[in-house]
Amino acid sequence: MYSTDQTQLLQKLTSDLLSIVKQHPPEKRQLEELREVLRFHEYRYAILNDPLISDFEYDSLYKALEKVETEHPELVTPDSPTQRVASGLTAAFPNVQHLVPMLSLENSYNEEDLADWDRKARELTGLEELEYCIEPKFDGASISLIYENDRLLRGVTRGDGIAGDEITTNIRQIRSVPLSASISRYGLQLIEIRGEVLMNKQNFKKYNDGLSEQGLAPLANPRNAAAGSLRIKDSREVSRRNLEAFLYHVSYYTYLSPDTPVQPLLKTHSGSLQMLWDLGFRSPQKEKRIVTGIQGVIGYCREFEQKRDDLPYEIDGMVIKVNSLDLQEKMGMTTHHPRWAIAFKFQARQATSILRNVEFQVGRTGSITPVAKIDPVPLGGVTVSSISLFNADVVREKDVRIGDHVLIERAGDVIPYVVKSLSELRTGKEEPIVFPTLCPVCKHPLEKPEGEAVWRCVNPSCPAQVVERIIHFASKDAMDIRSFGDANVKKFFELGFLNDIPGIYRLPYDKIRTLEGFGEKSVANLQTAIENSRHQPLHRLIFGLGIRYVGETTAKTLAASVSHLRDFVDYSLEDLQNLEDVGPKVATSVHAFFHNSDNQHLLDDLESLGLNLKSLKSKTENQGNLNGQTFLFTGTLTRLKRSAAEEAVEANGGKLLSGVSSKLNYLVVGEDAGSKLEKAKKIPSIRVLTEDEFIRLLSLA
Ligand code: IVH
Repeated sequence: MYSTDQTQLLQKLTSDLLSIVKQHPPEKRQLEELREVLRFHEYRYAILNDPLISDFEYDSLYKALEKVETEHPELVTPDSPTQRVASGLTAAFPNVQHLVPMLSLENSYNEEDLADWDRKARELTGLEELEYCIEPKFDGASISLIYENDRLLRGVTRGDGIAGDEITTNIRQIRSVPLSASISRYGLQLIEIRGEVLMNKQNFKKYNDGLSEQGLAPLANPRNAAAGSLRIKDSREVSRRNLEAFLYHVSYYTYLSPDTPVQPLLKTHSGSLQMLWDLGFRSPQKEKRIVTGIQGVIGYCREFEQKRDDLPYEIDGMVIKVNSLDLQEKMGMTTHHPRWAIAFKFQARQATSILRNVEFQVGRTGSITPVAKIDPVPLGGVTVSSISLFNADVVREKDVRIGDHVLIERAGDVIPYVVKSLSELRTGKEEPIVFPTLCPVCKHPLEKPEGEAVWRCVNPSCPAQVVERIIHFASKDAMDIRSFGDANVKKFFELGFLNDIPGIYRLPYDKIRTLEGFGEKSVANLQTAIENSRHQPLHRLIFGLGIRYVGETTAKTLAASVSHLRDFVDYSLEDLQNLEDVGPKVATSVHAFFHNSDNQHLLDDLESLGLNLKSLKSKTENQGNLNGQTFLFTGTLTRLKRSAAEEAVEANGGKLLSGVSSKLNYLVVGEDAGSKLEKAKKIPSIRVLTEDEFIRLLSLA
């Protein structure tokens, strides 16, 4: 889509624009440049998954564009990057007819099925051997997009295959769906494209964590999450869900001029994937493979199946398509599926077992979760013996009972869940699941707040809650203290080495060293990880405090709005609600947290222990200690996560650069550093730091 030359030019333009917008709002004439640059970085981020600038830099360009467009609404174009998010609610999704019916696929489950299908395909075409294009079968919600005159015209759900719901406003929130695509370059006037909307595994997990945080039942799998998200009336909420799209089929097109010859790329399916990729769509261009004969098909399906768990999104099989579009036409379709394609479904990640018992676990916020103990069964490479039933509503809706046969599913690294109980196998001896009235750990009476689905232990000193709060504080998305996982926290708590969050910074290392399994080196690693966490940016600390309803995004909003965490003590409910995306529920919870004297002591204690309670805002205002210094990371960092290191630079007033140039002050090198290091060595003004030196520099900052 972008050549190396174009990429370099756009990078240069990016840094020029970044320095302009830092000083003053851009001029009217820079509007198109800003849009072009933002579209380019959207592409690097959403299609290539290889961003060249930080989120912070992207946001500053985006805000600059937004500002000029607000001042000159007449200059706004529908394909401007600012035009993805619509305000207000969509009243209804009108039903519209597809240009070509959206068919389903025939399924196959083993190699014999595939060989049969290949034989039939060869008979139908009269050929000895066929060329196939194989690609993943994405497990999401199918959509159809129409582009006309280079702009996205509409997006539609599959519906009944003949007509679906027009959900263009929601489709526009998906950053991997371009708002414009130069189809005219291929002589095309209109094109209808099919694809799949997905929620990747990581976002699905975050989304579900947020739901359980609110006492709501989590969604069963990313497919349901994607399908549900497309039908939300508030497009801003759709935007927050971070959906993605793969586009894999050109179903219809018209040329600008009636006598245009067929585009060479539109003679094969693989060519159409290439064209979609070149137009800036995320097609399975890198994942596809062209093979001749069915043995090659089987080989690639098996090969790809091995990668299934490592992919960031869910797939449930592979799709095999006859590559020649002329042959596809010749083969035709049934009312249900095309004869030129077949799905090869991977083994279902479902199993049955017997539910023997239910235990009740106490979460960080006191929520009581019923956990079913089942006869251990192998499922998707692990043995499952415990499975969450989430809350009383789920237990009631699914009517699960002790002694029931249950069907369970595990999609990728998503936690396993009970699909349903197999009531037809009941003997009559099954027993209902009875919820406790007292906390199973501290015996405090449980409460069920109005409008919530979960029962809670409201005793803040409940040992189970304290342990879970410490685990959360140290977790990857919070303070990211490596080698301080669940097992160590529980062990130290039981041994009395640790009673609360500040206790993490007062661990008795001399005693830990005497424990079995804790060598000199592992204790030193633990100590370093804990020491380093003192410098984490404020939003990580806020998230780590586990304030109810405050997820990572809200934590970032909160961190950006104060100079020091204690400033929130003076914030009124109204002040809090004035912050972006902070509603009454979040505001009430944050307000209560900072007005609680125990929590105020906690903040004092953490500050006296040397934790960073100051925000990025204060650092830039006070010209933080790395202020003005530019950084670039290369190679694999072993002690810090790359994202955490980059955040730390920005939090201390430093800047991140995307390439080696004379503007660079520090190159931080991890393991296996490559060409960037070579290049940097040629520029004497660049200081090359090891990871340890960088950490030391940060401690000074
Ligand atoms: S081709 C006429 N390719 O699977 C073209 N479908 O179970 C038919 N799907 O309805 C679709 N990945 O929503 C095709 N690479 C892929 C796919 C794919 C996922 C979905 C699609 C289809 C469903 C059938």
